[in-house]
Amino acid sequence: MSIGKLQDKTYSKEMVRQSFDGAAQGYNDFTSLQRLIGDRLMTHGVLKQYSFSSVLDIGSGTGYLTNKLSHLSGVDQLYALDIAVGMLYQTRHHLGRYQAKGLICADAECLPFNEGVFDMMTSNLAFQWCENLEAVFRQAYRVLHSSGALVFSTFGPTTLFELKESWGAVDEAVHVNSFVDVDVIRQNLQLAGFKNITIVSDDIVRYYESPKALMRSLKGMGAHNMNRGRRLGLTGVQTFKAMLNTYECLRTEQGIPATFQAVYVSANK
Ligand SMILES: C[S@@+](CC[C@H](N)C(=O)[O-])C[C@H]1O[C@@H](n2cnc3c(N)ncnc32)[C@H](O)[C@@H]1O
Repeated sequence: MSIGKLQDKTYSKEMVRQSFDGAAQGYNDFTSLQRLIGDRLMTHGVLKQYSFSSVLDIGSGTGYLTNKLSHLSGVDQLYALDIAVGMLYQTRHHLGRYQAKGLICADAECLPFNEGVFDMMTSNLAFQWCENLEAVFRQAYRVLHSSGALVFSTFGPTTLFELKESWGAVDEAVHVNSFVDVDVIRQNLQLAGFKNITIVSDDIVRYYESPKALMRSLKGMGAHNMNRGRRLGLTGVQTFKAMLNTYECLRTEQGIPATFQAVYVSANK
C-alpha cells in the first residue's frame, strides 16, 4: 500500500540548494568519488593541451576542481559559482592563498555574466542537479568567448542502478535520483549551438559495508533522493527492510556494490 503522494520526476531546485548548503561542512569526508572523477576530468585533452585565461567553474562545491584549475598555467581570472552559499565558503577555504576573481552564488540556469567573457567553463558533477539542461548549455554558450570550450563531468543513467532495482522490486515510488542519457546531453548541447562534442563514460563501482552505509554516504554528499517524484511521508518499515534484503542479494566479498556512471563531456562554441 502506498503512503503519501507522488510528484513528477524532476528535482526541486530549492531542495538541491538546501541539501548542499546542509552538507557543505562535512562534505569532504564523503567525496572521494567526486575527487576521482574531478582528477579524471583534469586529464581531459582540452584542459591539458590548451591554455585558458578566464575560467568559470560551475557548481564548485567545496572547491576541489576549482583548486586544481587555479594551478593551470595561464589561468589568471578564475571564477567559482555555486547555488549554495555554504559551498562557496568551502570553495574559498579550499583555494587557500589563491584569490579567485569571484565567488558567485547563482544558478547555472541563469548566469549573471555578460556575453563572451570566459575562455573556458568547467563543472565537476553539478549539472545532474540542474532541472533544465538546455538552459544551462544556452547560458554556457552565451558567456563563452567565440573560441571558448565547455568541459564537464556528470552522472549517467546507470548510476546507482543496483539501488534503483532494489527499490523497484518492492514499490513504485521514485527513491533514487535519475540521471539523463548521453544522447539527451548531446542533443541539448547541439540545440544550444555547441560543436565538436565529445562524450565518454566509465562505470566506477564502489563497495559499501551495507545498503544503509551507501545511503548514508549519498546523504553526506548531499546527493540523496531529491526527485520531485520521491514519496512524501514515510516509507513503510517493512518496505524499507524488503529493499535492504533485495540489495543484500548483490553482496560480494568486497561488500555491497554501487555503480556510478561517470560521463565526461567537452564541446566548443
Ligand atoms: C557534487 S557537488 C560539486 C563538486 C565539486 N565541483 C568538486 O569538484 O568537488 C555539486 C555542486 O553543484 C551545486 N549545484 C547544484 N545545482 C546547481 C545549480 N543549478 N547552479 C549552480 N550550482 C549548483 C551544489 O550546490 C553543489 O555544491
